[in-house]
Amino acid sequence: MRKLFFILIMVGFISCGDKKPEPFGKASDEVLKDATPIVVDEKLKLGEELFNGVGMCKSCHLPDKKVIGPSIVEIARIYKDKEANMVEFLKENADPIVDPSQYEVMKTNFAITKTMSDDELKAIEAYMYSFLK
Ligand code: HEC
Repeated sequence: MRKLFFILIMVGFISCGDKKPEPFGKASDEVLKDATPIVVDEKLKLGEELFNGVGMCKSCHLPDKKVIGPSIVEIARIYKDKEANMVEFLKENADPIVDPSQYEVMKTNFAITKTMSDDELKAIEAYMYSFLK
């Protein structure tokens, strides 16, 4: 019994010893935590640039008012609720779920979105989702 107790204490010691480098681990976690919002910001910025720039999406999609196309908020809400994949839609691999009757109008934009990389499409998706409160 005593021996077991001794072993337990030793194990305790050893694992304490193992924990020593923890400050380093913590430090790098903090660095990562700090870095994440920057990465997210970069993604949103890229999405915004593409949406308002090359994509010309802004001409038909305003933040919360329907113009030619449904508003960004409406699209984002429906995609979120249905857990739908916007990137696949923009690659013309998925059917419309927001306003299928107007699909032909949206379809003309695939010529542009199909030239975009997955990362660029994901950035647009993230930008559109960022309008949800
Ligand atoms: C010429 C006007 C027009 C432009 C430009 C336009 N859209 Fe659309 N978009 C529409 C219309 C109309 C709909 C509704 C039809 C539909 O739901 O497919 C729509 C629907 C959508 C939907 C929802 C699709 C669904 O599941 O029903 C997404 C996502 C979308 N647009 C993203 C974009 C992005 C990203 C761009 C820029 C690359 C863009 N749109 C540019 C008119 C446009």
